[in-house]
Amino acid sequence: MNLLSDDYFYLKAKYKGFRSRASYKLLEINDKFRVFKNGQIVVDLGASPGGWSQIASKKVGQNGKVIAIDKAYISPFKEKNIEIVNRDIFDEELANFIIANFKIIDVLISDCAPNISGDYNRDHSIQISLANRALDLSEKLLKENGCFVCKTFQGSEHQDFIRRMKETFKDVKLFKPKASRKKSAEIYVIGKDLITTENKNAEE
Ligand SMILES: C[S@@+](CC[C@H](N)C(=O)[O-])C[C@H]1O[C@@H](n2cnc3c(N)ncnc32)[C@H](O)[C@@H]1O
Repeated sequence: MNLLSDDYFYLKAKYKGFRSRASYKLLEINDKFRVFKNGQIVVDLGASPGGWSQIASKKVGQNGKVIAIDKAYISPFKEKNIEIVNRDIFDEELANFIIANFKIIDVLISDCAPNISGDYNRDHSIQISLANRALDLSEKLLKENGCFVCKTFQGSEHQDFIRRMKETFKDVKLFKPKASRKKSAEIYVIGKDLITTENKNAEE
């Protein structure tokens, strides 16, 4: 048996009680890039069904909080530190709502993806607009030195997105977890150390 086949992560997630095989992608990202710390506040965009929120919940512990946001329904979690917000990430009031209720965010993670239509250029373009919206929200919500993890699909608009990431974060890395299907054009972008107006000016 090929231990890293697609079924392997699906079955492992079922066995461990994770809501999706995507949990293993975030575990690998966290092992490599040390995204989470105990007590942090995390916003999870495109959170349904909830595999990423479950991992973030474990990593930040009971002193931390995870805000799980999706336009699709998310069934209630048994984890007490996860709060569900049923909204579209393009909702213009979303950033104000998060700041009013949860204040400054330590980590923003986005696994947002469109429903795949089969027209790759169209799917790529929608996915990059979701990634750009997540990046806009990271600028509004993250504290200085905050961390951002974002799903992207490789394609013609990818380089422009990476350029924007490099203008926004001091440290930008790309990573394809083993749990991500080989056939998929999906690749994750990790941005560390948000460049704020204050720290940008300090370096000039
Ligand atoms: C690949 S799934 C996320 C899987 C999730 N990370 C997990 O571990 O279970 C992508 C999600 O993005 C959500 N999504 C896509 N567009 C969105 C939007 N405009 N606003 C909010 N959620 C969106 C979809 O509803 C879907 O649930």
